[in-house]
Amino acid sequence: MLENVKSFASHFFVTGDPLIYGADVSIGLTLLAILFVLTYFKKWGLLWREWLTTVDHKKIGILYIFSAFLMLFRGGVDALLMRTQLAVPEFQFMQPDHYNEIFTTHGVIMILFMAMPFMFGLFNVVVPLRSGPGT
Ligand code: HEM
Repeated sequence: MLENVKSFASHFFVTGDPLIYGADVSIGLTLLAILFVLTYFKKWGLLWREWLTTVDHKKIGILYIFSAFLMLFRGGVDALLMRTQLAVPEFQFMQPDHYNEIFTTHGVIMILFMAMPFMFGLFNVVVPLRSGPGT
């Protein structure tokens, strides 16, 4: 039974790699921490009314920039992994294929999910302010 579940899961998830398990656990813990903070400080209503449903261009710009910073962190973790691998010659920190994957995710995340939302965020904040009254 357990073997069936494992072989089914290994089609969709990378299993057996401690780095992946570490990432999974930190995603779970971070999610729980966010849910706890929002509930404990009673900020769900504020989050929904003031941010998620806002039509204020400056707040929307800040949301773009916030997600750009999250992705900077995500791409930065990739950068740290690459730096660790390259710190010492012939270091066996990652498999060569894994290094190539991290290289690709770092590049894609930094350009598409960090640099572009960051620019869109700045545009969203600045352009309406510069294009006349009515904001
Ligand atoms: C705005 C976009 C990007 C930012 C802010 C960024 C940032 C960084 C940072 C901070 C490091 C760590 C450097 C170090 O500790 O030595 C790094 C490493 C690296 N980045 Fe990027 N990166 C960006 C885009 C890219 C792209 C598009 C690629 C390639 C497709 C790329 C490939 C690499 C590689 C190969 C390393 C490891 C090099 C090394 O550590 O010696 N990066 N990046």
